[in-house]
Amino acid sequence: MNSSEIRERYLNFFKERGHIDIGSASLRPENDPTTLFTGSGMQPLLPYLLGEKHPAGARLVNSQKCFRAEDIEEVGDNRHTTFFEMLGNWSLGDYFKEEQLGWLFEFLTKEINIPKEKLWVTCFEGDRVLGIPKDTESAEIWNRLGIPEERIRFYDSKKNWWSRAGTPENMPAGEPGGPDSEVFYDFGTEHNTKFGEHCHPNCDCGRFMEIGNSVFMEYVKQKDGSFAPLPQKNVDFGGGLERITAAANDNPDVFAIDLFSRIIDQIESASSLAYSDSENKRAFRIIADHIRGAVFMIADGVVPSNTDAGYVLRRIIRRAVQYADKLNIKHGHLAGMSTIICEEYKDSYKNLHKEMTHITLTIGAEEGRFRETLKKGLSILDREFPKAKDLKKGETYGVPPDLSPIKINGKFERSYVPTALDGKWFFDFYQSFGFPLELAVEELEKKGKRFMPYEKDELRSEFNQEMKKHQKLSRIGAEKKFKGGLADHGEKTTMLHTATHLLLAGLRKELGEDVHQAGSNITAERARFDFTHPQKVERNALDKVEQYVNDAIAAGAERMVEEIPREEAKNSGVEGSFWERYPDTVKVFTFRDKKGVIWSRELCGGPHVENTKDIKGRFKIIKEEAVAAGVRRIKAVLG
Ligand code: SER
Repeated sequence: MNSSEIRERYLNFFKERGHIDIGSASLRPENDPTTLFTGSGMQPLLPYLLGEKHPAGARLVNSQKCFRAEDIEEVGDNRHTTFFEMLGNWSLGDYFKEEQLGWLFEFLTKEINIPKEKLWVTCFEGDRVLGIPKDTESAEIWNRLGIPEERIRFYDSKKNWWSRAGTPENMPAGEPGGPDSEVFYDFGTEHNTKFGEHCHPNCDCGRFMEIGNSVFMEYVKQKDGSFAPLPQKNVDFGGGLERITAAANDNPDVFAIDLFSRIIDQIESASSLAYSDSENKRAFRIIADHIRGAVFMIADGVVPSNTDAGYVLRRIIRRAVQYADKLNIKHGHLAGMSTIICEEYKDSYKNLHKEMTHITLTIGAEEGRFRETLKKGLSILDREFPKAKDLKKGETYGVPPDLSPIKINGKFERSYVPTALDGKWFFDFYQSFGFPLELAVEELEKKGKRFMPYEKDELRSEFNQEMKKHQKLSRIGAEKKFKGGLADHGEKTTMLHTATHLLLAGLRKELGEDVHQAGSNITAERARFDFTHPQKVERNALDKVEQYVNDAIAAGAERMVEEIPREEAKNSGVEGSFWERYPDTVKVFTFRDKKGVIWSRELCGGPHVENTKDIKGRFKIIKEEAVAAGVRRIKAVLG
């Protein structure tokens, strides 16, 4: 069965059971500065899982585009991808375990004909300290559905608890989460004892693959670290389309499914190598995955750069180039491959086809830029290893100094790895030139430097340590930067969010109706707001806009929320950007004062203050600058 059919059957199956298809949100989260990419179907639904009413109702379904940057290094095996589609269904305080597990079982075994004997499931074993009981209810339901007890396993919160932050102890206050029940497909391959004495669903030997996760999102973390029930019991199901397709075809290689077949063919013809040759598999998969991810990111507005989402895009394109080089694929082919992805998805994601030229040009240009950088990087390697070039055949370079003095250029020299070129050096080199460690080592080996296996292990572990340090720093940076972001509905962020609505209205009043929102990023400390406008906005105009916002705050305009059909809202002139990211029924937020003056009327998902006078402090525009051609950025604070 192919993936389009599975996607369609899934959506229809849940639509027949009262769900509304809300479509995929963008890969770039709107109103959620805590994360660079949408990494799961629930992410855009956070306010509704916390209790806000969703315009489409309490039963939702979709296939969500997801990107997980944390998995970049994992890509290359038979199951990891950075980009994937997550089939998701949600109950917002409506049905719970009985219906969810029953429907999921029916979908997997009847709709897409996965034999029930191949399914194993896992449930939460409970946590006494947190006061959360063992999920025997789910286990009993699975058992009744036909999964025998020996294929129902219990695990602790490391495996069977889901929240955006992971395990319960990592969750910040206000974050929702709950026990989950996962479904695994058993490929029946032999267990490898390298991964432990006994095989089990969460074993990494490759026998099992997780194909779906039903989260019973019923708790919210409290400030004192305990868990309280959410106002409603939710179901949040997510299953990777690519993995479900692989299971339905009983083939553990997700890259063997239809969605990848044309791009794999193309890599074969560009390289004259075969995917079936196990030596090539890793490079093929990395190229296919990274180009697909890049295509989707560019279509959702990401531009290669050195920061945030742009950096991740740059990294995957560059990695694809490096692996294309390994397969002797000529410069320019990757851009061509991106058109195949656009074609492949043209029915399910129409914007890919529309943006095809832009996508191909972006990938081509980035490849060109990277080749320049590579040249520079290689010359640095040459400079740092001058002796490596002079090595004679058979000589060993890199053995600990006290073990083996060696002869270089006729003179005995002590062999050593210069201290600067340790794992940290390679990590910095990677950061500056995008050279993964293995490739740098390989380049050096081409130049005659021979590494001992223990030396490579040491470099790898130092490199990984540096990587971890770096990731920790950027996490702390991101937490600081986005503290109290809209995602957790912080009070200050909410005030600034409403203030940006007033800001947009003020800008449109002052500069004209051509001003529209082009992006926003709001934290507890400041609002960053991008808008369309061809030239610099002078300070006197900014002062007037600032005054407009402060007048609106002083006027005490009340919040009114309407839920109306998207087209009706659009046609009636409601201000909004990114219409395509919203469901068929949308929310319109209006702020109107007692005299009937409308200060702002805009499409949005919330959250907002109830009355503009709840915005504390004076609104100040502290910076106005260009971000791209025709797009300006304002930074504003409440002082
Ligand atoms: N949020 C859960 C996950 O990402 C289920 O959708 O696995």
